[in-house]
Amino acid sequence: MIISSTTDYRAAAQKRLPPFLFHYIDGGAYAEKTLARNVDDLADVALRQRVLKNMSQLDTSIELFGEKFSIPVALSPVGLTGMYARRGEVQAAVAADKKGIPFTMSSVSVCPIEEVAPKLGRPMWFQLYVLKDRGFMKNALERAQAAGVSTLVFTVDMPVPGARYRDAHSGMSGPNAAMRRYLQAATHPQWALDVGLLGRPHTLGNISTYLGKNVSLEDYMGYLGANFDPSISWSDLEWIRDFWKGPMVIKGILDPEDARDAVRFGADGIIVSNHGGRQLDGALSSARALPAIADAVKGQIKILADSGIRNGLDIVRMLALGADCTMIGRAFIYALAAEGEAGVTNLLNLLEKEMRVAMTLTSVKNVGEITGDLLVRA
Ligand code: GLV
Repeated sequence: MIISSTTDYRAAAQKRLPPFLFHYIDGGAYAEKTLARNVDDLADVALRQRVLKNMSQLDTSIELFGEKFSIPVALSPVGLTGMYARRGEVQAAVAADKKGIPFTMSSVSVCPIEEVAPKLGRPMWFQLYVLKDRGFMKNALERAQAAGVSTLVFTVDMPVPGARYRDAHSGMSGPNAAMRRYLQAATHPQWALDVGLLGRPHTLGNISTYLGKNVSLEDYMGYLGANFDPSISWSDLEWIRDFWKGPMVIKGILDPEDARDAVRFGADGIIVSNHGGRQLDGALSSARALPAIADAVKGQIKILADSGIRNGLDIVRMLALGADCTMIGRAFIYALAAEGEAGVTNLLNLLEKEMRVAMTLTSVKNVGEITGDLLVRA
């Protein structure tokens, strides 16, 4: 199979994965309108083509929260990453580390913090949800701090999981889900051996470490629904901001008013995101939401953006719309599922190459020069 893009990795991942896993990562909420618009609206962003400016020397690096990254990309937190490849969090994190960008570990990952952090040369980022068990949150923050995590990513757009119809049909949830998953594994032997058998234990590693007993993935969606806390408000986050010594980033901001609240709250950054179209379907795409948010808070807080990025040109587009850095979720999971660490490395190299092409054709020599000035104004 020829691999030249995220689309190719998606196809390769679909072939290799049992359907319940493919559809969990690939799907969105309700009619999946926002999922589609994230990609389409970004692809519709037209940049000004500029020529003949000697583009032989380009610099794709950025500095963010006191760290230097080779490209303006971080890996977004993805629950169950370790089900997509053997000890998948380790493989993805090592690929990010070698590339010189951050890996963000999801609180609902398979590998615990302690399994991943020692394998890396740079600090990783850690994502936290507001769970009803505040003891877990405090424990996770202490362990993240002990493991040298630099940046805390706090996800606020999933007080309850969105309605994702594909999950019930695929066997991720719904009737006889466990049996359907076993049958799917049997017909996907490469995955069954590599991840199903050799990738064990399949537990929520961070939560199992805290509870001192394995929390199985048997009813993962049920777990999310039962343990996430819908009563969350800004004041609940104050103890975390006071407790956490490093940068704190709020993930899931889609409205300028919430972005202003994040500045007032004292966050170091926001992630403009609709959770990859997995939550409030019909909500604005990140590409559409970003300019107004940048107008409201750019310069007062770091702006990151995810949801819809599939190639290096999309990265330049997000930056032109107002982001300081981007994040990718599905794209790296497809590559991880298809080819493990090597796939993620290859994808990140592809993104850089495509970014360089986009920078050359828009005549920007470094990331700081990627501004709204690049946009074709109607
Ligand atoms: C978890 O973050 C999910 O989107 O399923």
